Parts: sequence; C-alpha cells; structure tokens
Amino acid sequence: MPGPDAAPPGVDPTKPAAARVYDYILGGSQNFEVDRLTVEKTRQGLPELEDIAWSNRGFHQRAARWLVAEAGIRQFLDIGSGLPTQRNTHEVVQEVNPDAQVVYVDIDPMVKAHAADLLHGSPHTTFITGDVREPDGILKNVQTRALLDFDQPIGLFMTGLLMLVDDDFDPRGLVTRYLDALVPGSYLALSHPTDDKQSPEVANRFRGVLGKGGNFNLRSRAYIENLFDGLELVPPYSGADPHITFAGLWGAEDPTEADSDGSRWMLAGLARKP
Ligand SMILES: C[S@@+](CC[C@H](N)C(=O)[O-])C[C@H]1O[C@@H](n2cnc3c(N)ncnc32)[C@H](O)[C@@H]1O
Repeated sequence: MPGPDAAPPGVDPTKPAAARVYDYILGGSQNFEVDRLTVEKTRQGLPELEDIAWSNRGFHQRAARWLVAEAGIRQFLDIGSGLPTQRNTHEVVQEVNPDAQVVYVDIDPMVKAHAADLLHGSPHTTFITGDVREPDGILKNVQTRALLDFDQPIGLFMTGLLMLVDDDFDPRGLVTRYLDALVPGSYLALSHPTDDKQSPEVANRFRGVLGKGGNFNLRSRAYIENLFDGLELVPPYSGADPHITFAGLWGAEDPTEADSDGSRWMLAGLARKP
C-alpha cells in the first residue's frame, strides 16, 4: 500500500480526497493513511458505508454493460471516474466490444498517475485531468476529441459525482452543457446520494459524517429527477416503468433482494437523449 512517499506530483497525502476514500471503501490499495482514517471514522456513524459505495459502483457497471450490449453505444465519457479499480468502465464495455472507446476524466491528479499504469497505452482508452465544472476544458480537450467522435452517440457517465458540486455551480446547467454537446441517441448514466426516504435525524447523521471532508450534497428525488429532464429514462429493471430508482435496484434481477439500506442512499438513472 503506498505511503506518503509514493504521492505523485500535485497530490497532498495529508488531506483525504474523494477518489482515494472511495477507493479504500471499495477495497482498493491506492489510498493513504489519512483516507483510511476518514473511512474508519465515517463507518462508525454510517455503518452502511460499503453498501452505499458498492450499490453505486454496481449501478455504474450494469449501466455500462447495458449501454454497450443493449444500446450499441461504443464511445464513453466517464467524468469523475475515480481511481482505477476492479471492473473499470473500459473493462466492462471492451469485454462486449473490444473497439469501444473510453475517455476517463477526474479532478484528482492521483487518478491520472494510476490510470497511466492501468491503461498501458491502450489505443481505445485515455485519461485526462479535468473539472466537471469547466465543461470546455473536457469537451474541447485534444485527447477527448482525438478518441471520441461527437457526431456519433456517446454514453456520458456522471456517477457519484454531482454531490461534490455545490448549487452555486448549477449542477443542472452543467448536465445540460454536456448533453448539448452530444448527438441524439446519446445516453446519460447518473447517480446521486439522496435523503429521500430517510428521516431528518438519519439524514443529518449522514451529512455530519460525510460533510466533514468538505462539500457533500444530499439531494431530493425531485432535484435528481430534474437532472434527467428532457431525456427518455430507460426502465431500471424488467417490468418497471421508466424512472430513476435506488442504485442497487437498477438492472437488478431481483429488485426486492437488491433493496438494501445502503442502496437507498443513492438514486440512479440511465436515459437517452431524444
Ligand atoms: C465517489 S467517486 C465516484 C467514482 C465513480 N464515478 C463511481 O461512481 O464509481 C467521485 C470522484 O469524483 C471526482 N471529482 C470530485 N470533484 C470533481 C470535479 N469537480 N470534476 C471531476 N471529478 C471530480 C473525485 O476525485 C472522485 O474520483
């Protein structure tokens, strides 16, 4: 496991970072002592922490597989991708279509350092450092444009990301900016933590433990639904009407079984741009 000496340039190993904290929760090794302590403390107030993270990651993976296998999407823009871990987007989609192209974007320089090892110069996958709040920096990036053809549909991932973007930066407006750059037939896969269905006491406990590391926004179902406004939602599981759903239920073979306490902290949806 890397210690502070292994911090790549631009990475402060004394402050917890979302990418490394999430990596540790998912069982990864690309994190520092400060990240591990943050998780251990958080777990004391939020015992369902792992369940929340895995529900979200599971949605991301099932949505990626659905997009390539069912919708025939062969290009992906994964913003807030996180540290390379098991079953990354390119691994999931290239299993179905080896020519599928993936551009990963994350604000954390640590992600870029580790992505370089993982990607091994793959011609179909690249990683750029970028900030979701600055769409031009991502959409006009030379590497993005080299790999993705914006005249063809693209699968846009914004999973477990926008809770880290405050209202001042207008998350709904940002989603619109990205979707405006994509042709009809493109898709948005998005998940977001919610306090829907939680008592105010429990929601405050969540805010208390996760808010300590900086900005962390829990948002209502209506707010998250609005992020999909104007899009055609895909039914989340067999027999369901099109709607956003708790993350664990999306693509679940047995939605009743998948309806866990952790899953209920995340709402997720996959939708097509008409
Ligand atoms: C909780 S992880 C989610 C990882 C992955 N998308 C998933 O759902 O499994 C959030 C990621 O968003 C990144 N992030 C935070 N703020 C960002 C920003 N403004 N722009 C781009 N990435 C950001 C963090 O560095 C972290 O890797």
